[in-house]
Amino acid sequence: MLTIVLAYVSTGSDIICDFYPSNVIVTIAIYTQYGDIDMQHDSTIVLENISKHYSADDVLVLKGVSLEVRKSEFVALLGPSGSGKSTLLHIAGLLDDPTDGNLFIESKNTRELSDNEKTSLRLSKLGFVYQYHHLLQEFSALENVMLPLLINNVGKKAAAEKAAHLLAELGLKSKVKSFPSELSGGQKQRVAIARALANDPVILLADEPTGNLDHETANVVLDDLLTVMQKTKMSAIIATHNYELAEKMSARYHISEGVLIKK
Ligand SMILES: Nc1ncnc2c1ncn2[C@@H]1O[C@H](COP(=O)(O)OP(=O)(O)OP(=O)(O)O)[C@@H](O)[C@H]1O
Ligand SMILES: [Mg+2]
Repeated sequence: MLTIVLAYVSTGSDIICDFYPSNVIVTIAIYTQYGDIDMQHDSTIVLENISKHYSADDVLVLKGVSLEVRKSEFVALLGPSGSGKSTLLHIAGLLDDPTDGNLFIESKNTRELSDNEKTSLRLSKLGFVYQYHHLLQEFSALENVMLPLLINNVGKKAAAEKAAHLLAELGLKSKVKSFPSELSGGQKQRVAIARALANDPVILLADEPTGNLDHETANVVLDDLLTVMQKTKMSAIIATHNYELAEKMSARYHISEGVLIKK
C-alpha cells in the first residue's frame, strides 16, 4: 500500500489519499483539526473558541465556546436567562459577529465573508425561528412562507407549491389563505417554522420557538417540527427552557457563565 500525504494547507487540513494500485480502490479521508474540535466532513456548523464581549456593559457573554453540529443532529441549548443562548444563536446565524473565534458553515470559514456573502449564505443555508413569530400581518400564511423562496429567486408557482406543501406537513392545509390575525399562537408558530424551512436550510436555528405557547401546544408543535426535520438531513440548534423538549433532541448542551458544557 502506498500512502501519500497530498497537502497540508494553512487552515490545518490534512488531505490524505491511500492508493491501492492492485485493485484500483482509492480512499480519500479529510481530517481537519480546529482547536478543540475535530471537524468531520459531515459537520453542518462548527463554532470554534467563540467569544463575545459587549463593550457597552463590559460583559464577556461567551468565553471560548466550541460546538460542532453534524448532519441530522438536533442540539438543545439550555441555560438560565441571560446566559448567552440568543447571543450564541445570533453568532451561529451570522446575525452578529463574535469578538473572537471562528464559525464554519459546511466547512466554510465565515470570518472573511463580506456582508453580501453572509446574507446570501444565511438565505441559502440557514433557517430561523424565534420566540415571537414575526410574520408579516398583511400577507397570508402561504405568502409568508413563499417570501424567502421568492427572495431566493424561486419562481412564483414553484414557491406557492413548496409553501403549500410545507404548511400541509405542519398541519395547516386548511389555513393557507388565512392571515396571521386569523391564526392561533400555535398556528402562527407553525407558519414561522414552515417559513424557516422553505429554502431547505442545512441548519435550523431556533430561539425558544415555543416559548410563547402553552405547554401542551408547545409539545405538539415541536413534535411536528422534529418529524418534518427528520425527513431531511437538516440539523438544528434549539434554545429552550423546556427540558422535556431537550430530551427529544440528539444532544444537549448547557451554557452558564459563558461556558458551554455537553450534558
Ligand atoms: N446588544 C447587547 N449589548 C449588551 N449586552 C447584551 C446585548 N445582547 C445581550 N446582552 C447581554 O448578554 C447576556 C446574554 O444575553 P442573551 O440574550 O444571549 O441571553 P439568553 O440566554 O438568550 O437569555 P433568555 O433565556 O432570557 O432569552 C445578557 O447579560 C444580556 O444582557
Ligand atoms: Mg434568549
